[in-house]
Amino acid sequence: MVVRKAVIPAAGLGTRFLPITKAMPKEMLPIIDRPVIQYVVEEAIASGIDDLIIITGRNKRAIEDYFDDSPELEMHLRGKNNDKMLKVVQDVSSLIDIHYIRQKEPRGLGDAILKAEKHIGNEPFAVLLGDDIIVDTVPCTGQLIDVFNRTNGSVIAVNEVPPENVSSYGIIQSHVINPSLHQVEDIVEKPRIEEAPSLLGAMGRYVLTSGIFECLEEVPPGVGGEVQLTDAIKSLCKREPVYAFHFNGRRYDTGDRFGYVQAIIDFALSNEEIGEKMRGHLLRAINEKSLNWPSVQGALRCTSNFE
Ligand code: G1P
Repeated sequence: MVVRKAVIPAAGLGTRFLPITKAMPKEMLPIIDRPVIQYVVEEAIASGIDDLIIITGRNKRAIEDYFDDSPELEMHLRGKNNDKMLKVVQDVSSLIDIHYIRQKEPRGLGDAILKAEKHIGNEPFAVLLGDDIIVDTVPCTGQLIDVFNRTNGSVIAVNEVPPENVSSYGIIQSHVINPSLHQVEDIVEKPRIEEAPSLLGAMGRYVLTSGIFECLEEVPPGVGGEVQLTDAIKSLCKREPVYAFHFNGRRYDTGDRFGYVQAIIDFALSNEEIGEKMRGHLLRAINEKSLNWPSVQGALRCTSNFE
């Protein structure tokens, strides 16, 4: 079966990124001039997905507005003969047809995915977490679809994580098929280092068979009292083969302040318009210790959680 549907869960409260996420979805945080979720949507499209479901929640209206037409703005730009910006704006709303489903309560990633069951039906589908950006010449989801086409089994994108970070990820236990492909024997959500079965962490991209829905319906709430996708995958791999693919590419966890700033810096450095200026600025900033400038310190005074 062809993988043509994808789910982007974007209903999380963004507590790691408060206070900005009080009023703005974390998926809408900008990387230069476009929101994080646009990179995720574009990865899905580049991977051959043509039917996209975004799971949203309260306070997430900005996501729907962003991918919608903007007649007034377009009329304004047309009136000003600003064809360049008109195209930029229209390109966003014509990317792909998106269906939105609301998760009424934040009951976890697994529960969010279960909301898409009726729309997905019996087809295999991709899951792209809405705050992970993965950059690669071949899109990560496309790499997973390729593995799915060869194996006919669900696939999780994994990468090795430093021991101190295993408690932030779903960590797999597996046997090696070849250096980039493993068969999953078990997966544990956010284990303590002593309990981690390996250092291979799930990285926010999955291709799943519809068998996952039955598992999601059965699993009790897990870590944090939430229905965990990881716990459903744990059941799935006992019923049918589930693979882990060691993907190529660079991942940014933009739901984390450090990962977000890393993404901005790297994207700015490779941006045609501002890349060179950014490079100069960074070198100067490091040499001049510009963070000691009074103006920057003043601006940081009220953001005490930015350590
Ligand atoms: C989620 C998953 C976790 C996975 C991680 C990747 O956790 O539950 O298994 O490893 O995404 O980003 P979250 O980061 O949403 O807490």
